[in-house]
This record gives sequence, structure tokens and C-alpha cells, in this order.
Amino acid sequence: VLDEMKGFSRGRLTIAVASTANYFVPRLIAGFCERHSSVSVTLEVTNRETLLSLLEANAMDLAIMGQPPGKDLVSHPFMENPLVMIAPPDHPLTRERNIPLERLRTEPFIMREQGSGTRGATERFFEKHGEQVVPAQIMHSSEAIKQAVEAGLGLGVLSVHTLEMELALGRLAVLDVAGFPIRRQWYVVYPQGKRFSRVGQGFLDFMLSEAPALLTVPSAPGPTGKPAREAKK
Ligand code: PGA
Repeated sequence: VLDEMKGFSRGRLTIAVASTANYFVPRLIAGFCERHSSVSVTLEVTNRETLLSLLEANAMDLAIMGQPPGKDLVSHPFMENPLVMIAPPDHPLTRERNIPLERLRTEPFIMREQGSGTRGATERFFEKHGEQVVPAQIMHSSEAIKQAVEAGLGLGVLSVHTLEMELALGRLAVLDVAGFPIRRQWYVVYPQGKRFSRVGQGFLDFMLSEAPALLTVPSAPGPTGKPAREAKK
């Protein structure tokens, strides 16, 4: 045990995460560093497309992202990642229930950049239902989208993990859109055949065993203030 602690305590760990995962990954890092006090972590925060190229270059210990393409990568799901549609709390649509997608044709959408997993999942969801979502504005971070939606620029679709504080404070509302939330999962990902450092292997084991205890999926209150039916398990 002492040996193991020693090996770990000198370790450096590079974790690359989808920008929507940076809202909870620091909690995992804190839990890990509590046990292995002088592990030094570098956290890269970027979008899905960049993560896939970092994985291809084997340029990090682990990646945390939405579902990657299966080829050459190993991925373990560890938590749900519902995407919800948000509006300012005084938006007329907050009073409607089960809003059909076609009802949203005239609404401006603030969307993430090409290469974002959130954007890709949103586009696929609309396409699957015979609709198209055209961005009125493009913003490269969830933070910018939240500010833009709050300021009344349009609607947005974001991971519920990015919205915990705004929903708790009532600064943004979740719309009751038919078929929403878009169901996704978080995955920890690495290249097939990866040779882990001790600390890398340690973090992977820690994540897979402790993530459920350390992390919770924020519940999205419905427009009535009650939890939305879709947020229930
Ligand atoms: P992103 O994250 O929208 O920041 O790319 C989600 C994902 O990796 O799928």
C-alpha cells in the first residue's frame, strides 16, 4: 500500500474533457487527490472533435466525453448526460407543455460550434424528427450560450450538467419539448491497447468505482418549478 501511495504521489495526470464535462470533472479530481495528495493534474477542456484528435495522437491519459465512435477506442459509460432546451424564465413557451418541434421553427437558436458533441446530438435529434435546427448565433462555450439565452437572444440546448446553478437560481428555465431531454451518456475513453501509467490506471479505476458516489445528475425543474417528468429516472 505504501509503495502504491508513493508511486501515485509522484504522478502526473493529463485528463482531457469535453467542455460540458468541466462542470463535474473537478469533483472527481478532488476525490482522487484527497487519496493521493501530491498527484498533479493537467486538465484540458475542449470540444468533441479536438478530443478525438487528441485520442488519436495518444496525447493524454484519459478523455471524458460523450459517446465516441467505436473504432480503435475503449469507452466506459459512467453517468447520464441529458440535454435540455433552455429559455429565459419569462419566455412565453415556458407556459406550454409538450411543445412539438415544428412549433420551434420560428425561434432563434444559440448553438455551439461545429465539432461540439452537444451540437451534433441536437442536430441529429432534430433530423430524426424531420426538422432542422438552424443556428441564429454560434458560440464556442456553454457559458456564452447561457448568458445569451438569459439575455433573450434565443433558445439553447445544453447538457443539464452545465445548468445546475442557473436552474437552482431560476435564471433559466427548461422548456417542456416533446421528445426531450435528448438522452446521452458520459464516457471515460482511451485508445485501444493503451499502456497506462500507474497514476493513469489508478484514476481510471477510481473513476469507475467512485464516480456514482461523487457525482449526481442535476435534476431539471420543469417550468412549474416541479421536477420535469423527463428528469426523473
Ligand atoms: P461538447 O461536449 O459539446 O463540448 O463537444 C459533448 C461531447 O463530447 O459529446
